[in-house]
Parts: sequence; structure tokens; C-alpha cells
Amino acid sequence: MRKVKDGSVDFVVVGSGIAGIRAAIELARHGTVLVLTKGDVFESSTEHAQGGIAVALAEDDEVHLHFDDTLRAGDGLCREEAVRILVEEGPKAIHELIEWGMRFDKNGGKLAFTREGAHSRSRVLHSQGDSTGAGILRALVAKAKTLRAIEIRPYSHALDLLADAGGIAGVSYLDEKAQSLAEVRASAVLLATGGLGQVYSETTNPPVACGDGVGMAYRAGATLSDMEFIQFHPTALFVTNAPRFLLSEALRGEGGVLRNIEYDRFMPRYHEAAELAPRDVVSRALVMEMHRCRSEFNYLDLTGLDAERLQKRFPKIYSTCLAYNLDITSDLIPVRPAAHYAMGGVATDLDGAATLGRLYAAGEAAATGVHGANRLASNSLLEGLVYGARAAAAMVKKQRFAGSLPRPPAATASHTAANPGSGQPTQAGSAPQDPARDAAHLRAVMWEKVGIIREGKMLCEAIEQIEAIELSPPKSPGRPYYEFRNILEVARAIARSAAARKESRGAHYRSDFPLKDESHPARHSYIARNTPVLFA
Ligand code: FAD
Ligand code: SIN
Repeated sequence: MRKVKDGSVDFVVVGSGIAGIRAAIELARHGTVLVLTKGDVFESSTEHAQGGIAVALAEDDEVHLHFDDTLRAGDGLCREEAVRILVEEGPKAIHELIEWGMRFDKNGGKLAFTREGAHSRSRVLHSQGDSTGAGILRALVAKAKTLRAIEIRPYSHALDLLADAGGIAGVSYLDEKAQSLAEVRASAVLLATGGLGQVYSETTNPPVACGDGVGMAYRAGATLSDMEFIQFHPTALFVTNAPRFLLSEALRGEGGVLRNIEYDRFMPRYHEAAELAPRDVVSRALVMEMHRCRSEFNYLDLTGLDAERLQKRFPKIYSTCLAYNLDITSDLIPVRPAAHYAMGGVATDLDGAATLGRLYAAGEAAATGVHGANRLASNSLLEGLVYGARAAAAMVKKQRFAGSLPRPPAATASHTAANPGSGQPTQAGSAPQDPARDAAHLRAVMWEKVGIIREGKMLCEAIEQIEAIELSPPKSPGRPYYEFRNILEVARAIARSAAARKESRGAHYRSDFPLKDESHPARHSYIARNTPVLFA
């Protein structure tokens, strides 16, 4: 790995999670690659991924079964070609990872597969029990470090896309160590900035997951897609004032059950697959039970499982819960849902090309349509590998967006640092802006009004509250301001898309439109700056 020359490189990758590093490895064969990353190289959702990575490699499994399960979970909205690519290219991507040093858990010398919700087979590979993402990221970073063309630059917080007549031409960023602004130009830029869970007050996502890439793309004039589809994970640890640590779905895959505070195992009443029903079904059931029992949480009950196996299989979860005085082998664990994954993001074609020239997106920041209205558990790590590599190949060829949209976005990128502030944060006429305080307010609005169960009036109220927030950069803006700017942009796009989709589908549930709209084929939503939400 080397230090690339400042100012100009062949390729810029924003984000050092699974999608960004996988892409960088591919790009390194064709030119210099600068990976900008907001924090330490490992600060990402990938690092926290527990359950594992889904792939049709087990003896009793078939690629077409993985395909079918993904489509079923996606509730009619998956782009079939995108899913076919994922499941067909997945096995090769995993073998490659193993060649690069990744060690998945084994059983009697053979790869060990676990079961998760809505999978018809046990097909989820894992590592060190419940530290799959951390293992994968270490293998990828180790491989990247052997490639001289790559520089990973930590504490480099990308702010805006730079544009010229040919499209996107680089990125401006905050060098957090030097506390200075910098720019880098490149022939193509990949946004691999991950998720946007920090738009909600309850989230399993790490602090870096502010939807930065989505906000940057939107400000530059790119089209976003399917922003209303937010997956809420059913089982985040509920301990007051503690982060919502994830309790992997694999715990239910291994036999864990859910109970309300009256100790009733309620899931069989909601779905034939009980605790392994699709995530949106389980999350809504949890909310309904909390409402019915007037409680703030439910319980995950693992006490029926073999204690020794539980400790060995889920060492991280075991030790983290123990730090909160909860022994998962003997205590009921308080849980409730939390924002976990964004199915939507920067609209891309099947090769990661966004709607602006020379701009690409991959991983959770992208909306390829692969997850439809609801992601199948453990498909996103695989997506990062498969689509990270594909986006890189397209960047080399400078492939242009080949998708079809309802109509071209009204706004295009300007010829300068693309629009550093489309808005202004402060409530007009109020006290000086405090981005951290305003972000907390916005997150609460999103959780209460654009959360698991949505309804037209609440969505309108949320949009009004969001529109009332004005952005005004402080004298010396820092990370809290820049993150809030993106959170605001992304929150607005989610709320507007959710209000426009007048049906319930997958993770988007509207109590005022509880059924799917079957009057036409399922449609994706699209939103761009200065345009209404469109469907196609
Ligand atoms: P990330 O891994 O999130 O990486 C994003 C990168 O972008 C980070 O390096 C971040 O620092 C950087 N970044 C962000 N903004 C900026 C900026 N402005 N400037 C510079 N850099 C920036 N999926 C599965 O398939 N299986 C699982 O078991 C699983 N478990 C999960 C558990 C948890 C707790 C969470 C939160 C998610 C889990 N997921 C799982 C989802 C999955 O981890 C993510 O969808 C996936 O890792 C996303 O990869 P990515 O490369 O797109 O983004
Ligand atoms: C989990 O381990 O439950 C998370 C898996 C995922 O989000 O895909």
C-alpha cells in the first residue's frame, strides 16, 4: 500500500466497508485508488455484522432457492436481474474471499451454515461465531494492503462531490486530523458510504452511518430510489442509555423465541414461520405486542438452548450482554426493534453506475433493486462483495448509467463543489444552531412518525417538521454539522417517499393503506432534487 499523490488519482472510493474495500482491490489492477474513510478503517457496519453472509454453497442448497427466497422477502419489488447476479456470482465471491485468507466457521472440516429468517435452507456462513463482518473486513483490508496502488486514508470525511462538464470529477473532504478542507480529483468516484440508521433515534448502526453518500449524491443532482424502505431489525438490546446492540437473528435461527412481558410466546399467532418470519412481520408483531401490553420492550428467550453451545456460538453477544448484567443462557433479554438497513439509496444500474456521469455507488448506499421492499437476512454482505467488484469493473470502463427512470432528474450537477448546503440547519429565529441537538430532535421525529408503522397524517406532520428546519452553517463547521446536513437531506427523502407510497409492501407499512396496491405491477420510487417522488 502506498501514499497516493494528493490532488489527483485515478479512482476515489468513499468508504472502507465491505463494498468499498472490495471495489478498491478490483480497481488497483487499473490505476491508483484513494479510499477516503470517515473514521478508523474498521469503523463501519461491516465491522459489526454478526449473523453472517448468505450464499448457496451448502450441499442441500441451490442458487435458484436463494433466488426464490430473496424475491419472496422482497415482496414483489426485487429487480430480478439484480437478484440473479447476486446469487449466481455469490459463490465465486466467497471462494475468492477464502483464497484471500478469510476463515469461516467449520463443522467437522466442512463449512458450517446457519439458518436465518425467511431462508428455506441453512445457508448463512459465519466467522468466530458472531463476528462475521469483522473477519471479512480484516481479510479484505489485509489483501488491500498487499496492493501498492491503494491508499486508505482514515479520518477523511467526504463532504461533497465535485463536478465538471463530464460529470462527477472528484470529492471534497474534511481532513479531521489536520482540521482542514481538501479536494481530490479522479476519473470516477464510488460512493460506498454504507447505511443511514443514524437518521433514527433507535438504530443498530454505528455512529458513522449517517447516509453521507446518499446526501452527497442527492445534493449533486443524482436520483435516489426506494428511500421509504427501511428495515427495522426486531431484536436490538433494550437497556436504557445504552446503544441498541444487535442480537442476531441467528439466535432465533438456533431456536430462540420471543415473548411479550406477560411471557406469552406470541409469534405463532402472527405468522406460520413464527420467530423466523420475514423481519418486517416480526418487527410489527413486536410493536403490536408492546402496544397491547403497554410495555417498552419484549423478551428474547434463549433459556431453552444449550448454554455451553450458546456461549461458544455467540461469544460476542454473550460477553456484551454480560457487561449489562444479562446472562443470555439464563436471563430473558429485553429487546425492541431498531432501524437497521436501508433498501433504498443512490439509484444505480446493475453495474453500480449512478445517474450522474462518472459517479458510482455500491453496498448499502446503493439501490440496485436487489433487496426489493425488504432485504433477506445476510444478503447485504454478499451484495457488498458482488456489487463492489462490479462497480469497480464499470468504473474502469467508464460505463454510464444504463437503467430506466420515469423521467430525467430536473437538476444536474453544477460545475463547482456540488452545492455544499442545500439547506440551512436552525429553526428560524431560534437559538444558534446546535447540530447535535437538532439531529437528536430530527431522529426522534423520524422514529415516531416515519417508523415501523406509518400513517398519512403522521407522515405529513413529519414532512412539515423537517421542512421547518433550516440549515445555517456554523462559523467553523465540523463533523456534527456535516453529518446533520446529510441526515436532514436523507430524512426528507425518506419521509417524502413514504408519504407518496400509498400501499403497504415489505418494510413500508401504512396503517391507512394496509394492503399492497395490486392495480399495477410493483413500482420503485425515485426522488431527485427539486422533483416530486415518481414511481416506475
Ligand atoms: P459499511 O460497512 O457501513 O461501510 C461504510 C464506510 O463508509 C465506512 O468505512 C464509513 O466510515 C464510511 N463513510 C461513511 N460516510 C463517510 C464519509 N462522509 N466520508 C468518508 N467515509 C465515510 N448484513 C449481513 O449481510 N449479515 C449480517 O450478519 C449483518 N449484520 C449486521 C449487524 C449490524 C449491527 C449492522 C449495523 C448491520 C448488519 N448487516 C448485516 C448489514 C451489513 O453489515 C451492511 O449492510 C454492510 O456491511 C454495508 O457495507 P458497506 O460497505 O456498504 O458499508
Ligand atoms: C443479524 O445477524 O441478525 C443481522 C443479519 C442481517 O442484518 O443481515
